[in-house]
Amino acid sequence: MALRAKAHVWLARPWQCLLRMRALGTTAAPATEALQPFEAIPLYSRNKWLKMIQILREQGQENLHLEMHQVFQELGPIFRYSIGRRQVVSVMLPEDAEKIFQADSTQPCRNVLEPWVAHREQRGLRRGVFLLNGPEWHFNRLKLNPSVLSPKAVQKFVPMVDMVARDFLETLKKKMLLNAHGSFSMDFYSSVFNYTIEASHFVLFGERLGLLGDGLNSSSLKFIHALQSMFKTTTQLLFLPQSLTRWTSSRTWKENFESWDFISEHVTKSIKNVYQELAKGRPQSWSVVSELISEGALPMDGIQANTLELIAGSVDTTAVPLVMTLFELARNPDVQRALRQESLAAEASIAANPQRALSDLPLLQAALKESLRLYPVASFLERVLSSDLVLQNYHVPAGILKSFTVETLRQEDVQMVYRFVLVPTSSPLLTFRPVS
Ligand code: HEM
Repeated sequence: MALRAKAHVWLARPWQCLLRMRALGTTAAPATEALQPFEAIPLYSRNKWLKMIQILREQGQENLHLEMHQVFQELGPIFRYSIGRRQVVSVMLPEDAEKIFQADSTQPCRNVLEPWVAHREQRGLRRGVFLLNGPEWHFNRLKLNPSVLSPKAVQKFVPMVDMVARDFLETLKKKMLLNAHGSFSMDFYSSVFNYTIEASHFVLFGERLGLLGDGLNSSSLKFIHALQSMFKTTTQLLFLPQSLTRWTSSRTWKENFESWDFISEHVTKSIKNVYQELAKGRPQSWSVVSELISEGALPMDGIQANTLELIAGSVDTTAVPLVMTLFELARNPDVQRALRQESLAAEASIAANPQRALSDLPLLQAALKESLRLYPVASFLERVLSSDLVLQNYHVPAGILKSFTVETLRQEDVQMVYRFVLVPTSSPLLTFRPVS
C-alpha cells in the first residue's frame, strides 16, 4: 500500500481559532484518548468517476483548496481518502505538519509530478531536485545548495535581483510620468510575471532578457508564452491518470510537451553561452550556472535538469506574493505609509550595501510573510512517510503517501484558484501615483 501524508496550508482567516476549531468549525467528533487504528481516521469518500468527469470538464481543479477547506470543516483536522490504490492522509494543523517534518528522513519522498516526468522521459532528459526522491535527490541537492542557497550565493545574487528591481521601478516611474494625470492603473500581474522571469534569468545565467520595457522581442515573448502554457497545461493533466488523458487530452499533452521543448531548448542554449564565456575566460557576471559549471558540481545534463526546475519554480511563486502584497498595501494605506517610512530610513544603507535589504526592513519582511500566510502560494506539501507515525492519535503506517503609492478601489477580497500554485482569479486593478 502506498500511503501519503499531506500537510495542507489553507487560507489563514478561517483557521484563526485553530484550537477552538473543533467546537466552532467542524461537525466531526473529537478523537478519543486511546490510540486509534488507521481505519478509524475519518474517510473522505467521493465518487471517483464523477470526480474525473468534473476534472475533465473543468480542465483542472481550480477550487481544490476550497473543497479541501470544506472537508476539513466537516471531518476535522485529519482525514483520509484514496487516489486509485494509494491511500492519502491530509492534515492541516501546524503541530501535525511539524511531526511529519520531524519524521522526514534526509531523503524525503514525494510523489513525482507526472506530466513533467513524462516529458523528461520522452525526450531522454534527466530529472532535477524537484522531480527526484531518495539518494539521487540528496546528491543533487547537496551539489546545488552552495550555488543556490548558501549565504555566499545569496550575497552574490542579491545585488543582481536589486538591479532588476530598480529597472522595474524605473519603467513604472516612466509610465507614471508619461501619463497626463501623473498616475496610471494597470494589470500588474503580467508585469510582475515578466519581472520575476527577468530576475531569475539574470541570477541563473548572468544574462538579461529585456522583459521590462515595452518592445519585447519575439523570442522573449515566446519564452513567456511557453512558461505560461506549460503551467496551464500542467494543471489540466495533473489530477488524472496518464492512461486516461492520453486519449481524452492529447492536444493538452501536445501543448505541454511543445512548451517544455521550447523552455528546455532555451535553457540549453543559455547554459552553452555561459560555458563558452567561461571557456574564453570572460564570464559575463556571476551566475548560478557559471558557478555550477566552474565547480564541476554536476554533469551538464544534471545542470540542465536542475536549471529547468529553478526557472519553473521561481516565477509564479514570487509573482503572486508580490501582487497580493501590493493589493493588501493598497487597501491598507496605513501599513503602506509605515513601510514607506521604514524603506526611506533604510535607503542610504541599502544603496551602499544591497545585502542590508535582508536585515534593515523587518516590517517589509513581516508584510511579505503575512501575504504568504493569507495567500499561500503552495497550497499543500506532501510526503510519503518512511516510518509509522501517530497523528491526532491515529496510527498512520509508513509508506503514506519608494517612489509611488499604490491604490485600489477594490476593498473586497480577491478569490484564489488552484493553477499549480494558488493565483488570483483576476488581477486586482492597482493605481500607481507619485508620492507628493
Ligand atoms: C515565495 C516563493 C516560493 C514559495 C512559496 C515556494 C514553495 C515551494 C514549496 C512548498 C516547495 C516544496 C518543498 C518540499 O517539498 O518540502 C518548493 C520546492 C522547490 N522550489 Fe520553491 N518556492 C518559492 C520560491 C522559489 C524560487 C525563487 C525558486 C528558484 C529560484 C524555487 C525553486 C524550487 C525548487 C527547485 C524546489 C524543489 C526543491 C527540492 O525538492 O529540493 N522556489 N518550493
